Amino acid sequence: MPEYVEFQLEGKCVRLPIIEGTAGEKAIDISTLREQTGYITLDSGYGNTGSCESDITFIDGEQGILRYRGIPIEELAEKSSFVETAYLLMFGHLPTGTELHQFSKLLTENELIHEDMKYHFEGFPSNAHPMAILSSMINASGCFQPQMLAAHSRRTFDLHAARLVSQVRTIAAFAYRKSHGLPIIYPKPIYKYSANFLHMMFSEPYCDYELKPEVVRALDLIFILHADHEQNCSTSTVRMVASSRASLFAGAAAGVCALWGPLHGGANQAVLEMLKKIYEDGDDGTKFIAAAKDKKSKNRLMGFGHRVYKNYDPRARIIKQRCHELLDALKIDDPLLEIALNLEKAALTDPYFVERKLYPNVDFYSGIIMQAIGIPVEMFTVIFAIGRMPGWIANYRETIEDRNSRIYRPRQIYQGSPLRHYVPIADRETK
Ligand code: CMC
Repeated sequence: MPEYVEFQLEGKCVRLPIIEGTAGEKAIDISTLREQTGYITLDSGYGNTGSCESDITFIDGEQGILRYRGIPIEELAEKSSFVETAYLLMFGHLPTGTELHQFSKLLTENELIHEDMKYHFEGFPSNAHPMAILSSMINASGCFQPQMLAAHSRRTFDLHAARLVSQVRTIAAFAYRKSHGLPIIYPKPIYKYSANFLHMMFSEPYCDYELKPEVVRALDLIFILHADHEQNCSTSTVRMVASSRASLFAGAAAGVCALWGPLHGGANQAVLEMLKKIYEDGDDGTKFIAAAKDKKSKNRLMGFGHRVYKNYDPRARIIKQRCHELLDALKIDDPLLEIALNLEKAALTDPYFVERKLYPNVDFYSGIIMQAIGIPVEMFTVIFAIGRMPGWIANYRETIEDRNSRIYRPRQIYQGSPLRHYVPIADRETK
């Protein structure tokens, strides 16, 4: 492979270095292009732009490969737990037994939010979307840990990172309970990560929620599959915030906001709403597919397509399989699964979807599992956010620890009015 690329621009020879990643991905480092030529590159939606070099997650979208710190997602889904996967992402290696024990202990010790934070929940209207509550409360929780604003020692960072991983599920469960007028349920130290979340969501003060192992395991799997996905919209947002050296809590709160949109994490809610609508309309999916192909209709087949995957999203394959297993175990006959299977079958043989390489993504089947677990639809994207926290933390840390990291500051090509001068209001023409 050549070490640099050379080309002529306006009679000048331009030389740019070539970078190669450990999995053979190649990039042209254009960081001196403007200095050499006066030109910048333009890449709407950053589809062809690498914003950083990273050690965390690898995706090969053409082949449908996803690895966290080098380990295939299929192996983690089968053998790991969410807490172990979180450790892997945040610290770069699988923990030893002692490391895992210490990390789990740290999560347990930090599962309670500051008691005064409970009053903040009161201020939200009862119909507030839990993603709005989650983002606000993560930012608010930073105010209860002001040391974080100045904390850049590894030890303090690790402590705050563990707090965030642990408390995001407490905040999420409290948000759900408050928005339904239900009493808050405190975490129980005897429960592991996912079981504790289910307990805080569904127990009552007078009766503990019955924890079924297959349900706990399914939720843990959902968290694992969402734990990181390299430079997507929300992770890039977190890195953007980190690059300005705002706190980890500010970065995570911003990540939640970016994740909320229906083209990103909000797609899991949008998929279930789409499936319900298809069901209520008595459609088997045929009419909806036709509408999704019609550019005038603005409908999209939610849970389909991906910027990076031009093949089956490996997470969707794992979730689809677990979806069947969980519904069988719980003896649930969900007509929405039938519709989803029909939609997938139709889309995968339809030239519109085939030509554009549109396959099911992680959100296509995750809503059906979450519904079977009993999670309300408005909490789906919150579940995604809980799972994504270790990935955001790993990316935040990588940004602030990179000695060459500069504040993220893209350029633009201005297409507005050329120079014109201020006109006093009395002299302006009325339109
Ligand atoms: N249904 C119908 N047409 C689609 C879809 C879809 N779901 N996705 C893409 N297309 C078409 C799009 O109209 C365009 O067609 P044309 O070339 O004729 O203009 C072509 O496929 C390329 O689409 P794009 O919007 O340029 O692709 P993108 O890389 O900018 O967007 C996406 C990726 C995920 C936003 C998009 O596929 C989409 O909106 N999917 C539905 C929402 C969704 O499921 N989002 C979750 C993504 S995975 C999890 C996550 O990131 O959080």
